[in-house]
Amino acid sequence: MDPKKWIDVKTESFQYSLDHFVIPDHYESDLESVLIPHGVIMDRVEKLAKLIVQEATGPLVVCCVLKGGHQFFADLVNYIKKNVTRGGKTLPLSLEFIKVKSYHNETSGDVKLSLTDEECKEFSGKNILIVEDIIDTGKTMVQLLAKLKQYSPESVKVASLLIKKTPLSNGYIPDYVGFAIPNAFVVGYALDYNEYFRDLDHICVINENGKHKYASKN
Ligand code: HPA
Ligand code: MG
Repeated sequence: MDPKKWIDVKTESFQYSLDHFVIPDHYESDLESVLIPHGVIMDRVEKLAKLIVQEATGPLVVCCVLKGGHQFFADLVNYIKKNVTRGGKTLPLSLEFIKVKSYHNETSGDVKLSLTDEECKEFSGKNILIVEDIIDTGKTMVQLLAKLKQYSPESVKVASLLIKKTPLSNGYIPDYVGFAIPNAFVVGYALDYNEYFRDLDHICVINENGKHKYASKN
């Protein structure tokens, strides 16, 4: 995929009023705007699925990064299957799920995977597609990739629905990107703020009220 082909979501032109979409009542006062409506997400995911099938060289182990990646993963896998049933290129998939915990400090960081060493050894010789919701600083993904490469997979590619345009980025760019978004905290479509807002279909910008209401209690 040519990375320049992702959709660049600009703050000025892409903020929709909440009034124009169906928002759950329980979140109405907690959001600034709709950044990417659900229908647009779905259309973009379908296109990413098509690109992934076109560029795949063999069976894929599609690896969902929980929890935020689950909705993108589910829709992406569905579109890949649909592509096949519509007479597209056949692409066998196996599905894997990982939870990644990152420990960051100033100079180095480490990630801890929920998979055991034995389970990770299954990646050896496989073509892996990691499915993530968002690349923010890029730290977690760079460490995750380094960790997975220790198990000698045949190839590792990354699909991220979003990449944030933040000055804190380490420059990491995934193989497949849905949208490049402004440097704002977004929620919805399984992206959360302290576990809230995963049950919102559109990708929205949280407001100060929402940040305060659902602030971490720890
Ligand atoms: N929203 C939700 N989760 C995140 C974000 C975000 O903007 N950035 C990193 N993780
Ligand atoms: Mg994530």
